[in-house]
Amino acid sequence: RLLIIDFGSQVTQLIARRLRELNVYCEIHPYQKVTDAFLAEFAPKAVILSGGPDSVTREGSPRAPDSVFTMGVPILGICYGQQTMMTQLGGKVERGHGTAEFGRAYVTPKGELDLLRGWFLTEREQVWMSHGDHVSAIAPGFEVYGTSPNAPFAVTADASRHFYAVQFHPEVHHTPNGAKLYENFVRIAGFKGDWTMGAYREQAIEAIRAQVGDKKVICGLSGGVDSSVAAVLIHEAIGDQLTCVFVDHGLLRQGEADEVVKMFRDEYAIPLIHADEQELFLGELDGQSDPETKRKIIGRLFIDVFQKYANEIEGAEFLAQGTLYPDVIESVSFSGGPSVTIKSHHNVGGLPEKMGLKLVEPLRELFKDEVRALGTELGLPPSFIGRHPFPGPGLAIRCPGEITREKLEILRKADAVYIDQIRRHGLYDEIWQAFVAILPVRTVGVMGDGRTYDFACALRAVTSVDGMTADYYPFTHEFLGETATRIINEVQGINRVTYDITSKPPGTIEWE
Ligand code: XMP
Repeated sequence: RLLIIDFGSQVTQLIARRLRELNVYCEIHPYQKVTDAFLAEFAPKAVILSGGPDSVTREGSPRAPDSVFTMGVPILGICYGQQTMMTQLGGKVERGHGTAEFGRAYVTPKGELDLLRGWFLTEREQVWMSHGDHVSAIAPGFEVYGTSPNAPFAVTADASRHFYAVQFHPEVHHTPNGAKLYENFVRIAGFKGDWTMGAYREQAIEAIRAQVGDKKVICGLSGGVDSSVAAVLIHEAIGDQLTCVFVDHGLLRQGEADEVVKMFRDEYAIPLIHADEQELFLGELDGQSDPETKRKIIGRLFIDVFQKYANEIEGAEFLAQGTLYPDVIESVSFSGGPSVTIKSHHNVGGLPEKMGLKLVEPLRELFKDEVRALGTELGLPPSFIGRHPFPGPGLAIRCPGEITREKLEILRKADAVYIDQIRRHGLYDEIWQAFVAILPVRTVGVMGDGRTYDFACALRAVTSVDGMTADYYPFTHEFLGETATRIINEVQGINRVTYDITSKPPGTIEWE
């Protein structure tokens, strides 16, 4: 196995992700934990020293244990990792003085190095730099194999010891060919690349068992991919020590509650409480039309309801959540930050402290596509794994103005027709998210020989990578025309269909 010593970079998890893509097993451990004894026990086959925010020129800044350099295993130092490696092996690092580099830079090769084999597709390779300090003298035994305008020691190595040090971040998207370096590194270290999602599953199961012991776990199930994968995985680990709570707030899509309950109860035999609280939610939402008020009501009731059902499960000590790595990063970097609240996102973040529960978050290290791969590994059906995201407050935020049962019913039907259209045309997987919003206006129409006075609706479909920014999907006019006709013919209560062509920003994906 490979050890990543983490010096606190924002992108350390990306290194792990690149290695998983190469089917290599690795573990990330914070530098404070990696002592000589830890290293001896861990016995890594190779070590990566991550980047980090500190400056090695600062007295008392983090170091790798010196024994890492005498274990006889390949080492790759990245950014801060490069600098501490140089310092510890007898080189020198200095503060900025006009040589800081942030963002895009280009590295030109110098000589031959096994780490760089196949990397230079042209005479220079784009990389992503983010450093204030720079190496000013390389350590004895090292040579330079790549330079950039502001980093004369962009790539250095002591090839005889298989020690490699790079100033840039090969793991990020903006170092387009960076995966090649990791591929070379693990090949040099002798990894076979035989570690798979199946192995990840086994390991995660062991970790859950070790954490939970014989205690009970509650899992809030939303019907979305993340909480579902977490629930199935935890159930595999601890069986009926797990109980899922599925809160039906009456704002779900057509057939959704039945589908989720059926799948978890019948197919996976996971103990599930179906909390049918439609009356409660719809009752309190009655007459409310302000978007933030709606969100706050739903958020508050959700926590109350969840707590009520959870209290019925005697002896529960853990709360399971399908938190993904991007959620972890966002909450770390944005909590208490200066950003304004655009929307009060609905989540159960405050629950664990309030209820005195400890968290189980088996997906914390994974990215969305990896969760999907794990879900597939666990046997969840592809149609379920590939589902578009669905917001916690559900249809409430697709129903601007007052929420009524009548409007929700119309919305459910229109949405089902729209999604069916998208599937029939084979577009579902190309689109990040698609849904119908019902508008708070009635307009006049004519059907048959009669006058109609019904609701208008808006179709929404966007492409996106992470939901943070989005573009509207360029349907053909034929598709839009056919879909409008079907909705008006098949859904009583709608006589006008529009298509929302706003991107995000300036719009948001949901209407509220
Ligand atoms: P917006 O509308 O902010 O949405 O552009 C971005 C993504 O987040 C989803 N969304 C939510 N998800 N709880 C959730 O779990 C929420 O309160 C919530 N609000 C928006 C939205 O569906 C889109 O995928």
